[in-house]
Amino acid sequence: MHLHKFEKIWLAFGIITLLVFLGIVGVTAFAQGQTPAGGLDIIDPEKVDTTAPFDKPGVRKINDNTYEVVIKAMTYGYEPSEIQVPAGKEIIFTVTSKDVVHSFTIPNTKVNMMVVPGRISHKSYTFEKPGTYLTLCNEYCGTGHHFMYTEIEVVE
Ligand code: CUA
Repeated sequence: MHLHKFEKIWLAFGIITLLVFLGIVGVTAFAQGQTPAGGLDIIDPEKVDTTAPFDKPGVRKINDNTYEVVIKAMTYGYEPSEIQVPAGKEIIFTVTSKDVVHSFTIPNTKVNMMVVPGRISHKSYTFEKPGTYLTLCNEYCGTGHHFMYTEIEVVE
């Protein structure tokens, strides 16, 4: 027995209905301010631009040895597009997505984090050598995925 065309359509309809239902449940849960298990670092992906610290993306000095870089990921790029940090200091990357799942990946370093809408990802890293570090998206996020990258300037 093979599936008839109408059965396939009904099957697809059922799956779509289920996804819509789950979507509504998820949105409602967020709207009521309920946090997913263990998730303290959540953010409304629709309000990233007006939610601190993402309302002022960029580099900020925390103390003499530590800097934070706040970055927004979106199809297809990162904001701010120019990032300059000092070598030999702890750099804490704080990243979220405004739309779909991306990644924040600096090849040949330990920085490789998934960036999920609704979540804030952190990664600490110290660049030992100055230079220009390519940073790219490792999660397929759409037609412009292969063009989603930025550069980090590490200076003395
Ligand atoms: Cu963003 Cu791939």
